[in-house]
Amino acid sequence: MTSITIKRPDDWHLHLRDGEMLEGVIEHSAKDFARAIIMPNLVPPVVTTQDATAYRERIMKALPNGMNFTPLMTLYLTENTDPADVAAGHASGLITALKLYPAGATTNSDSGVTNFENVMPVLEKMAEIGMPLCVHGEVTSSDIDIFDREAVFIETVLDPLRQRVPELRVVMEHLTTKQGVDYVRSGGDNLGATITTHHLIINRNAILAGGIRPHYYCLPVAKREEHRLALRQAATSGDTSFFLGTDSAPHTDPLKLQACGCAGCFTSINTMSCLAHVFEEEGALDKLEDFASLNGPSFYGLEPNSETIELKKQQTPISFPERIETGAGSVTVFDPMYPLHWQVV
Ligand code: NCD
Ligand code: ZN
Repeated sequence: MTSITIKRPDDWHLHLRDGEMLEGVIEHSAKDFARAIIMPNLVPPVVTTQDATAYRERIMKALPNGMNFTPLMTLYLTENTDPADVAAGHASGLITALKLYPAGATTNSDSGVTNFENVMPVLEKMAEIGMPLCVHGEVTSSDIDIFDREAVFIETVLDPLRQRVPELRVVMEHLTTKQGVDYVRSGGDNLGATITTHHLIINRNAILAGGIRPHYYCLPVAKREEHRLALRQAATSGDTSFFLGTDSAPHTDPLKLQACGCAGCFTSINTMSCLAHVFEEEGALDKLEDFASLNGPSFYGLEPNSETIELKKQQTPISFPERIETGAGSVTVFDPMYPLHWQVV
């Protein structure tokens, strides 16, 4: 096969940032994606409907003229989140989901949840109105090995929480383990998961073997090969529980390349080329549309996009820039470490 046409994809987990970074990266999402779930971990975070209204306006203002892109806004769940504000934001159509960060789990997550007791009223309200909770599924205690943090989160936090509020619709964001895949497979209709582009391509060797490569460091950190294979199987299986969330998370090069570098891979620009490559390798190009364009809307109760995009396989490799320049600084583009031949035309 040298050409494939699919419904225009959406990105169910995206960091657009703010200010000059937002202005520099937004076109790379808007080019291929119709909609995206916009992560709220700004500094300060997007915590109220009012914050989200203002952030959405900044996003729309940064969108280049003539580009068609709908940001689906989220609120950052804190122990002070007001259930009434959440319900009003959801009813007005502004807020699509809430994002749960365990305190300290990742970039800008200091305002996250420590005591789940304090967020039960919000979670119960969300279950009642059918509003999804996007979960960063890692425990944060220093005695848990970083490679085990997702699996331990599922066992000690997520599963007890879901048993307590079974009607709550939950998206396990950026799944990185076989345990996560198995849990989502057995989780019923109220549980879904996003999988990133880079976790389908790299395992932890990319970060650590033969020298330390900060541009492959993201959270949750990439795991062993067996986990990457489980993720690839899940993503390419057509199972409606799994859908694309790039977690494209731009940081400037100086912030990545320092003694304590930031977590995040910037993938929005070449995600569709990378995914076509992965799905072709798995003999599953016919499942790309499910993963990138159909399963996400179905979980979120939205229609798939009506437009389509075409990907064509080119003889000569597609050249993506090594880095993009933004007003905030340069951002290195995720390098899958092999040539890419599929191009969105
Ligand atoms: C994200 C970021 O930089 O905001 N980083 C990352 O490694 N994925 C935060 C997140 O999604 O964990
Ligand atoms: Zn993220």
